Amino acid sequence: MSLPAGQDAVPQAGSSIAAGSSALASAGSGGRLLLASSGATEQLARRLADAVQPGDAILLEGPIGAGKTHFARALIGALQRAAGQAPEEVPSPSFTLVQTYRAGSREVWHADLHRLSGPEEIGELGLDLAFETAICLVEWPDRLGDLAPRDALRLHLEPGAHEESRVATLTATGPRGRALADVATA
Ligand SMILES: Nc1ncnc2c1ncn2[C@@H]1O[C@H](COP(=O)(O)OP(=O)(O)OP(=O)(O)O)[C@@H](O)[C@H]1O
Ligand SMILES: [Mg+2]
Repeated sequence: MSLPAGQDAVPQAGSSIAAGSSALASAGSGGRLLLASSGATEQLARRLADAVQPGDAILLEGPIGAGKTHFARALIGALQRAAGQAPEEVPSPSFTLVQTYRAGSREVWHADLHRLSGPEEIGELGLDLAFETAICLVEWPDRLGDLAPRDALRLHLEPGAHEESRVATLTATGPRGRALADVATA
């Protein structure tokens, strides 16, 4: 797989994913996972929830309806359950742009930047500071431009062969992004 400069290919997904679960399967090339159902997307989110730390960013790419919010909802729910809380409702932040959550002592930001009016709004929302202190899940991260966090996991979702299947492509930039990518494909 050819990647833009500065980005690292995620290690070959390999057969361990298929062996570990019938729902998550390797799509065959490095850094790609076949998510056969919405449950498989939730499983990937739960796996990453065990590994994310404050200051981590997961940038969720892909077209409308790809499953970005579905993934974020599952990850936030898993973080809150792990903290001993009842999972909150997680609405799509497509109109509010940002929703914030607590999971124990950790802050989680869920952003949807599709309707961002301009890059200056990123500072107004406080997203630049949140990248340093919170767990950040960002839909439509292309809107961040130069303000995108340097160290992140990019998770690109696109429709698969069936209505419920999605192809996830993982790309890491920086050490934390790589650590999360390793967890996703382990
Ligand atoms: N494998 C799958 N992974 C994720 N979602 C799936 C999958 N299969 C079906 N779905 C369904 O697809 C829909 C995805 O909607 P979702 O709101 O998550 O999309 P989105 O990528 O956030 O879109 P938008 O860009 O409009 O915010 C949900 O209804 C979900 O149940
Ligand atoms: Mg969404």
